Amino acid sequence: VSAAPDDDLLAAFPRERTWLLPALDTVRRREGWVSPDRLAAIGRHLRVPASEVWGVASHYPEVRLRPPGRRLVRVCTGVACRALGGRELLGACAARLGVAPGQTSADGAVTLEELDCAFACSVAPVVEVDHRLAGRVTPDGLPALLAGPADGHGGHGPPGPGAVAPPPSLPRDLQARHAALLREAERRRPRRRLSVAVGSCSAAVGARETLAALARELERRDLGDLALGETGCPGLCWAAPLVALEEEGTTRLLAGPVTAADAPALAEALAGGRPDALPLIDPTALGAQRRVLMARCGVTDPGDIADAIRRGAYRTLARALAAGRPEAVIEELRQAGLAGRGGAYFPAAVKWAGCRDAPLGRPRWIVVNAEEGEPGIFKDRHLLEGDPHGLLEGVLLAAWAVGAERGIVYVHGEADLAAARIETAIAQARQWGLLGEGILGGELSLELSVRRGLGGFVLGEETALLESIEGRRAMPRPRPPFPVEAGLWGRPTLVNNVETLCAVPPIVEHGGTWWASLGRGHGTKLFGLSGLLRRPGVVELELGGSLRALLEGLGGGSATGRPITAAVVGGPSGSIVPAARFDEPLVPRGPVNPGTGGIAALDDSVPVGEVLRLLLAYNTRESCGKCTPCREGTARLLAMLEAGPDRAGAEELAEVIQLASLCGLGQAAPVALLAALRDFPEALPGRPV
Ligand SMILES: Cc1cc2nc3c(=O)[nH]c(=O)nc-3n(C[C@H](O)[C@H](O)[C@H](O)COP(=O)(O)O)c2cc1C
Ligand code: SF4
Repeated sequence: VSAAPDDDLLAAFPRERTWLLPALDTVRRREGWVSPDRLAAIGRHLRVPASEVWGVASHYPEVRLRPPGRRLVRVCTGVACRALGGRELLGACAARLGVAPGQTSADGAVTLEELDCAFACSVAPVVEVDHRLAGRVTPDGLPALLAGPADGHGGHGPPGPGAVAPPPSLPRDLQARHAALLREAERRRPRRRLSVAVGSCSAAVGARETLAALARELERRDLGDLALGETGCPGLCWAAPLVALEEEGTTRLLAGPVTAADAPALAEALAGGRPDALPLIDPTALGAQRRVLMARCGVTDPGDIADAIRRGAYRTLARALAAGRPEAVIEELRQAGLAGRGGAYFPAAVKWAGCRDAPLGRPRWIVVNAEEGEPGIFKDRHLLEGDPHGLLEGVLLAAWAVGAERGIVYVHGEADLAAARIETAIAQARQWGLLGEGILGGELSLELSVRRGLGGFVLGEETALLESIEGRRAMPRPRPPFPVEAGLWGRPTLVNNVETLCAVPPIVEHGGTWWASLGRGHGTKLFGLSGLLRRPGVVELELGGSLRALLEGLGGGSATGRPITAAVVGGPSGSIVPAARFDEPLVPRGPVNPGTGGIAALDDSVPVGEVLRLLLAYNTRESCGKCTPCREGTARLLAMLEAGPDRAGAEELAEVIQLASLCGLGQAAPVALLAALRDFPEALPGRPV
């Protein structure tokens, strides 16, 4: 059966089921939805029965099976946005657009939707218009935002990979080859550089506009050898857009926000030779952090491999490959005690050794879990956007250690900037001989590509992720076998979180015992700070510190003047922590489990019972339905909460759900309710517990 003539969009895909999600993604990006004709064409081309194409397409929330309006407005009402007026913004949008949430206007002009999370919590509240995020939205700013130019669905889609020409010739020897790359990178170093930090959060508050304005202003003046560029975000989202000036190896972070309107004065100061007159960011804003994984975030240009190499990328890989002992990498991880940062804190060394020793043959796969679909956390995006080569070096060390020769970086379907940056990094690494056959002239070979998700919390569960790569619904697999034994297409597959892999190069560089000496033996961890804080953003610090230190120190304390009374820690899989427990240490499996690191601060203007209902309702909605305890139990638990929980009944049901659910979604779903029964009994509705 050949493809129909109108299937040009699909012709690029090999005719195999694994391309089902990429095909759906391509169509939805181009056309805004996936029509029945398109579904049929996809099925014909990929040789998948029409019923199964429908079954898969209807499972993923980002695949629209009905055309949306010409404009698509989505308002985030996740915890941070809700605390900062997200629901009011949703109401204001409905009134202004004349359409109820979840509806398309009768004339097809606009669709209005509510978002569980826009993953830019540090610039909440957030409204998305035609796939462009706008942060710190106020009711007064809404009319201009909604009146902006309609561009259909063209906001989707990252720019194509940029090229950075590789060095002309390279020596054969591994170390010499890395040294040659470094020399070439040094040769290309700009003497002075002004850079704008552009990440998802900062782009939502005007970083691209600042960059464009600076480009115009610098062009008008003679600024000699000053280069203008882009970095990822240093994590100080509260001060975004941020601009940095780098001269002779010293970087100064200018006090932000630097808006497009500030560009003329900034350019004038630079042209007049008065950079010292520019106000700088308060250095204590970064002070309490321990930036290991984030060391290059906000410093390096993510679109320039030469810049990353100059700043140390791939140095550890070159040394490890030259030493020729892949098992030594696993040994370092064992000494480090590195535990997975995808939320479960499983020991990385145990997993890696299991994959290395798995008997089921070749090819072995490595899958980077960059799905990050849990509301309230946005740290993996931050690493991908800020230092994609740091992640690639971790992936290469992992591939070397476990013997993988193929890999996939699986990026959330809406994280377009993160996907674009990692795609660029992969393309450049290939050009520079750091991916593909015979990496750095040695024996390691790795083919790496990017896949995109299509929504849903459970998609991030590792076996659901593998199902989706194989072209099926995101439903977890029973274990055993574990992915390291039989994962993608039955082959040994290492699945790790972005943050876990980014920790590998520093651990191999400085040694496992060094990592174990940090954070009470747990190393460092990234946290996404949001909610009612003066300084929301992404920070990295040693584990074992207290929530109070995070919220009142790095987070700057309450933004409202009222005390912070609670914090949601770990999103829908975590719990709401009362202020009375803010001094307990944040350690995996400790009294306050950091989970994936999402922290949203609340004051007493946000009812705890409402937040609890939000978390539980989310888990109930997101249950994939494969196993009964989670499918039926979460809905029942929610009903009990609405009616007013009776402690004994809720605890009994929660225990069943936790013990009998197939995957972590069900196992963690009752956690927030159980914690609230203990910590906030007065905040729960209905009869006393
Ligand atoms: C519902 C659910 C969602 C998950 N989402 C993610 C995710 O977005 N990213 C991630 O790395 N791990 C996620 N996980 C955890 C993965 O199943 C897996 O443990 C992780 O990718 C392993 O990597 P690590 O050992 O480096 O943490 C999720 C688990 C569950 C149960
Ligand atoms: S626990 Fe929930 S999400 Fe996980 S497999 Fe069962 S029904 Fe699906």
